[in-house]
Amino acid sequence: MEKQGGNGCKRQVVVESPVRPLRSLVRPCFIFLLFLSTVIVIILLGFPDRFSQTDWWKNLSLYTYYHRWTNPDRHRGPSPTTIPPTTVPAPPSTTIRPLPTNHNHLGYPRNYHFIVDEPDKCNTQTPFLVLIVPVAPGNLAARDAIRRTWGNETMVQGKKVQTLFMLGLPGGPVAQELQEKVNQESQVHHDLLQSNFLDSYLNLTIKTMVIMDWLATHCTNATYAMKIDSDMFLNVENLMTMLLRPDVPKVNYLTGMLMWDRPVIRNPNSKWYVPVEMLADDRYPTYTLGMGYVFSNDLPERFVAVSKDIKLFNIEDAYVGACMKKLGLSPTNSPDPWQWKAYLGKYNRCEFSKVITYILSRSSQIVEYWMDLKKTPGSPCH
Ligand SMILES: *[C@@H]1O[C@H](CO)[C@@H](O)[C@H](O)[C@H]1NC(C)=O
Ligand SMILES: *[C@@H]1O[C@H](CO)[C@@H](O)[C@H](O)[C@H]1NC(C)=O
Ligand SMILES: *[C@@H]1O[C@H](CO)[C@@H](O)[C@H](O)[C@H]1NC(C)=O
Ligand SMILES: *[C@@H]1O[C@H](CO)[C@@H](O)[C@H](O)[C@H]1NC(C)=O
Repeated sequence: MEKQGGNGCKRQVVVESPVRPLRSLVRPCFIFLLFLSTVIVIILLGFPDRFSQTDWWKNLSLYTYYHRWTNPDRHRGPSPTTIPPTTVPAPPSTTIRPLPTNHNHLGYPRNYHFIVDEPDKCNTQTPFLVLIVPVAPGNLAARDAIRRTWGNETMVQGKKVQTLFMLGLPGGPVAQELQEKVNQESQVHHDLLQSNFLDSYLNLTIKTMVIMDWLATHCTNATYAMKIDSDMFLNVENLMTMLLRPDVPKVNYLTGMLMWDRPVIRNPNSKWYVPVEMLADDRYPTYTLGMGYVFSNDLPERFVAVSKDIKLFNIEDAYVGACMKKLGLSPTNSPDPWQWKAYLGKYNRCEFSKVITYILSRSSQIVEYWMDLKKTPGSPCH
């Protein structure tokens, strides 16, 4: 039966219903449509980078879809509202340009030094687990939310946990003012680390490597460390339960939400654009999504050592994956990989009681959900 609104080819077929003409018309029509869609698919999938400079192209939904699909960090979501608030906003896409091509030295964390430090945080009482949160200097709201929630979990299942924040230098017109505030905040809370590189989205890899350097030099005796973004919900209890399992290794261990075989984004308009000159490989080595990954604390020193030989590129989580690969190691799935979640539709007390991570969209949600989960009496799952 012919449906209303069928395409032109089929309509014609219905009008001239004898069997012969039907066959002779369907085939060319089909072949033509097949040819047309093949051409469109080849253009869309094959050359998005070449065409992405033209504005009309970006507005094609298939292109947008493809772009999201090939995005190595797509779990963070395509909408601007999910850009991690840990970072100063990325510059408008037209001004996103990579770091200079010869920048081996830029990625090596020992080219920077700490201007705000907590040198004794790990020495007075060695923590079992150190949580380090990269955050923009101006994002006091996120730090305060974390201080009131998972950052205030200092003893979990009898193990000491230490939370610290990693900052770069503030930029822009109010940089000096912001720096004063950072200094004051440090006096009050004694949980800030600040290094002298410019805090920016494209410098996130430097920030991560500076975190590794701090762990390697200031906190060698901790057993595990975690890099966790400031827009995250973290269930420290569940993380600790996982780390205390006898089958979880204490050396050469990196886990989180694993990303396999992700393509390197070559579209210059993408937030995750990496030019060929910066990274020649077309696929990233296996890595753990940057929202939060935990590692045995023997690794930071080795990451710093190999980072001398790995050209800097601006995708921090994949860069850590590249360090692992260089060391002949690979991230491992945690015993219950589903506990590492990037997204959530709606708050669900039962689910939050079982996971390790979730990405949230506002700092206030961290407090809101934490209070509900921790302070409401009764079992979270009925
Ligand atoms: C593409 O879409 C954006 C809004 O989504 C609009 O501002 C822009 O004019 C569109 N470009 C073209 C060429 O249609
Ligand atoms: C780290 O552990 C070693 C060996 O147990 C010990 O000698 C050293 O003093 C510890 N360092 C710190 C800073 O606690
Ligand atoms: C952290 O927890 C302690 C009790 O465990 C509480 O007294 C303190 O007020 C909390 N700190 C913040 C910033 O909420
Ligand atoms: C990264 O940090 C370095 C050192 O502070 C600085 O020279 C460079 O401009 C920064 N790059 C970006 C893209 O912010």
